[in-house]
Amino acid sequence: MLAPPDDLEKLFLEAAQSWDLERIYTDIERVNGKPLKPTERACLRGLLCRYRPGQIAFKLTWTSGSLRVELNKGLYRYLEALAEKPLNTLRWECIGDWLEEKGYKLSGTSLNRIDRSTLTSQQGLTDWGDAPEAPVFFGRKEELAQLEQWIVVDRCHLVAIWGMGGIGKTALSVKLVEQIQGKFDYFIWRSLRHVQPIQQILADLLKSLAPQLSTSQFEVSDLIEVLKQHRCLIVLDDFETILRDGELVGLYRPGCEGYAELLERVGGERHQSCLVPISREQPKEIAVLQGADLPVRSFKLSGMQRQEARQLLVARGFTGSENGMEQLVQQYRGNPAALRIVGTTIHELFNGNISEFLKQTALALGDVLRSLLYQQFERLSDLEKDILYWLSIRRRPASLVMLRDDTKSIASGSELLDALESLRWRSLIEKSTEGNEVVFMLEPVVMKYVSKKFIDEVCKEVDAIAQTQSLVKIRLLRSHALVEDLAPDNTRAAQIRLILKPVKDRLGIALAQAGMTEEAFNEVLTTLQTRFSQDSMYLEANLALLGLLL
Ligand SMILES: Nc1ncnc2c1ncn2[C@@H]1O[C@H](COP(=O)(O)OP(=O)(O)OP(=O)(O)O)[C@@H](O)[C@H]1O
Ligand SMILES: [Mg+2]
Repeated sequence: MLAPPDDLEKLFLEAAQSWDLERIYTDIERVNGKPLKPTERACLRGLLCRYRPGQIAFKLTWTSGSLRVELNKGLYRYLEALAEKPLNTLRWECIGDWLEEKGYKLSGTSLNRIDRSTLTSQQGLTDWGDAPEAPVFFGRKEELAQLEQWIVVDRCHLVAIWGMGGIGKTALSVKLVEQIQGKFDYFIWRSLRHVQPIQQILADLLKSLAPQLSTSQFEVSDLIEVLKQHRCLIVLDDFETILRDGELVGLYRPGCEGYAELLERVGGERHQSCLVPISREQPKEIAVLQGADLPVRSFKLSGMQRQEARQLLVARGFTGSENGMEQLVQQYRGNPAALRIVGTTIHELFNGNISEFLKQTALALGDVLRSLLYQQFERLSDLEKDILYWLSIRRRPASLVMLRDDTKSIASGSELLDALESLRWRSLIEKSTEGNEVVFMLEPVVMKYVSKKFIDEVCKEVDAIAQTQSLVKIRLLRSHALVEDLAPDNTRAAQIRLILKPVKDRLGIALAQAGMTEEAFNEVLTTLQTRFSQDSMYLEANLALLGLLL
């Protein structure tokens, strides 16, 4: 149903703040020979405020399909004519740029001269950017309540939401914003997925928040000024993309160092707004600034609760009474991305039989989750990777003393502590206490991925040994044990079955491909033996386990 014209005229009036609307209306009438209808005027204002067509349709109580037809028939074509662009080339995102080129944007004033009274009395700006929709969403009531409390009631300035890939950060934040955006004058969502230098994001945000500001060099101070004047909610998703790969957590990519200043100042200075970075890793500044009595908070998102995760599986075609559902949820720690992917696999390959699937854990990781974890893993420093490999070999919680022993040839004690902290911030490992001892372990989904990665990498080394008959390029076989000497029996049995066996199989294939018998190969290795005995902790033992050097 169409909203009555009276209401239509009141919609998106804030566009008048930045645009000479009357002149646009008159010129469109002149170029096209007829005036815009009230609906078209409302749509034009909405588009100039950067609402998406679907959101405008919602406000007009139209279906988005019928609104799109209407826009394609009329407004879009008129705007092409007005902007003197070829027919059928308009994308709604460009409308602002086109009309700005044509001089319809009101001329800028400096930020300090923004007329506060008009701005604050205007209807607020809502700009979802490229935020996804979350049409199917279960549970998370406590998480939403906690975040709402921090942002709306406690009026925090900086609230980071972080957690491992696929755990549901973006979906939760979309729900959160839907719930609380009415409490803010302005709301903007941006993803940093395509690595944006700070200048670019500041320009983008300020273009919307303070269109009157006329400068080409935006500074964090300009944004802070707006955050003081208006109650703004700004969400920056995929924050980890501006952090550097291959380093300990928290360092920024070149050109993105300014984000540290952004977080520090938004967290530390007086204003009335809230910035919400969403990240797979906890930004370092937040870890430093956060506190229960401070306006900076950090929310680590964990998996979904059992009941809610079950609902998610039911929505993916399970009845909820299947055997093994509890175990499945447990195994994937309520990670919604993992459960969705695994749900599909179980339907496609196991005819929906969860217990059957659970017996064959090798198939447990679907492509999507693997690629999520791949991205996360590739970002790590060598030491972080080495620690994860050790934890995957151990298959049980490891104390600091054990890890120190494992990594003593590659890292000092303090380097190890830094790397462990970094891995925790990246939500790849969990810390808990056993007796009086602090222990570290892998998240189960991560465990699967890292175990496979370790075997793949060791197999590559085995290939290289067979092809080059040298040990020059060997690293993991030197630094990690395939099977631990002192592990409990059941762990050793698992290590033999899950690590040693596949590597050994691979060695057989590699030798066959290289046209060598094991005996001939052993002779080559024996001549090398004197050279590798000093520099490697585990190489000799590993080669012996593989049936070599006997
Ligand atoms: N509470 C929920 N109910 C139903 N589905 C959910 C829920 N939370 C997340 N999902 C779904 O799980 C998938 C992963 O969620 P999301 O993209 O929010 O994860 P993320 O933590 O942002 O991941 P990334 O680190 O890759 O950005 C999505 O398909 C999302 O729709
Ligand atoms: Mg996300």
